Amino acid sequence: MSKKSLSKLDGPKNITNNERKLGDDDFIISKTDTKGKIIYCNEIFVDMAKYPAKDLIGANHNLIRHPDMPRVAFKVAWDLIQAKKEFFGFVKNLSADGGYYWVFAYITADLDAKGNIISYTSVRRKPPQSAIDAIAPVYKLLVDAEKRGGMEASGKLLGDFLEENNTTYDELVMNLQKGA
Ligand SMILES: Cc1cc2nc3c(=O)[nH]c(=O)nc-3n(C[C@H](O)[C@H](O)[C@H](O)COP(=O)(O)O)c2cc1C
Repeated sequence: MSKKSLSKLDGPKNITNNERKLGDDDFIISKTDTKGKIIYCNEIFVDMAKYPAKDLIGANHNLIRHPDMPRVAFKVAWDLIQAKKEFFGFVKNLSADGGYYWVFAYITADLDAKGNIISYTSVRRKPPQSAIDAIAPVYKLLVDAEKRGGMEASGKLLGDFLEENNTTYDELVMNLQKGA
């Protein structure tokens, strides 16, 4: 059984170009179990994702995955958070009505007293438009590479892109968030 079929929710039938923007002071918060199932989300999450709040709990977080997002971005995220490191990144999310919204996301593991991972928490805020404009074409190239050669191809492309620009993933993301 696929991960999605365990959820009570279906994604949108049509994907549209309708963008919804976060407010300057908005924070979207969610928490998942160790497998990525939502165990908590705040009101702004519900407003932006447009699913009934009660149905979001228990759904896999990939419910709001947008097809314009490259898989390699989530691989980077999961590799870091499973290693108890922080992930920062730009994410285009899909709402129940088929629209989308961009976020600057921070994800980290929550640990128990013994240092075991018990859940993950993500806090997101509005990214600068300049960051979206810069990252969207890079994601498009990565998605196209994945269509041709899977994550091996997008992973290589991402590595080459960072090397050509003489930067690291973290440095790139932080500079874009600062509007640099
Ligand atoms: C705390 C937390 C928050 C996440 N938030 C998002 C999110 O806002 N959007 C998203 O597409 N994936 C998010 N993910 C990643 C998903 O779990 C998932 O890896 C991603 O949607 C890709 O789906 P897939 O792994 O089924 O390919 C989050 C994961 C965690 C642990």
